[in-house]
Amino acid sequence: MDTKIAVIGCGNLGLSIVEGLIKNNVGKNVIATRRNTDGIEHLGNSGVTVTTDNVFAIKNSKVILFALKPYRILSVIDELKPHFTSEHIIVSLATGISLDELKSHVGPTIKIFRAMPNVAASVGQSATCISKNSSDKVGLMEVEKTFQLIGETILINEELMESAVVLGACGTAFALRFIRAMVQAGVQIGFSSKTATQIANQTVKGAAEILIATGNHPEAEIDKVTTPKGITITGLNEMEHQGFSAALIRGMITAYNKIEDSK
Ligand SMILES: NC(=O)c1ccc[n+]([C@@H]2O[C@H](COP(=O)([O-])OP(=O)(O)OC[C@H]3O[C@@H](n4cnc5c(N)ncnc54)[C@H](OP(=O)(O)O)[C@@H]3O)[C@@H](O)[C@H]2O)c1
Repeated sequence: MDTKIAVIGCGNLGLSIVEGLIKNNVGKNVIATRRNTDGIEHLGNSGVTVTTDNVFAIKNSKVILFALKPYRILSVIDELKPHFTSEHIIVSLATGISLDELKSHVGPTIKIFRAMPNVAASVGQSATCISKNSSDKVGLMEVEKTFQLIGETILINEELMESAVVLGACGTAFALRFIRAMVQAGVQIGFSSKTATQIANQTVKGAAEILIATGNHPEAEIDKVTTPKGITITGLNEMEHQGFSAALIRGMITAYNKIEDSK
């Protein structure tokens, strides 16, 4: 892919995206910006142009990812607006800023999308939800192509963007906490932390791979490994008695309500 990509605000998420793009050998097509570039200068070794100059980044790229904090994105867009052209494809990664609001700042002729990737972008495994408010198929294809370099893309209606934050972006932390608990249990039943982590990581990856390969519902796969009166069902039922699924669902709904409350 030869499209030039700018990442404006290369912090946690922006850096994960750039790292994923580098792994896909397109580092030379990327311009990464932030005001203090000390923490991202090393990206230059992989062909990325690192700069504090947002205007330079915009003038020299087509797809522009705004990875800024939500409270900052609109003022930075306002500053850069005179440099946008109808060739640009602007993508906001900010939580909670609607396409209508973004559109009122970028102007009516500029293509604008929202995307919600996650930090697994750094290893090419992001689940990136994308939403649009126009019928511009070419622009959408370009956005999808960009995010497919760092994982999978899912097109969603904008009203589900906050849900995408919880399921996809926060979901990384929820899955990591699940793995941490597995490791803690693994240590209690005899493994070193290192070995328990290796086994848990690969087991969780394998479980996800089964679902991806088969498209099956998780419970259909669980049925295959639960012998009647067996060990697995005994463990699973005890987890449910202790509120495992309820805790996860309630945690996710609380996270969702937190986004809604802060609007
Ligand atoms: N973390 C996630 O998993 C995740 C997932 C999906 C979406 N998001 C969204 O992604 C956005 C960024 O989150 P984050 O966690 O990556 O935040 P972050 O680490 O604070 O990154 C934002 C970066 O923007 C830079 N910045 C601030 N003003 C700038 C300007 N005028 N020009 C260029 N760069 C500027 C900051 O660096 P300097 O101070 O050096 O400029 C900072 O490193 C948020 O809107 C969040 O809602 C995050």
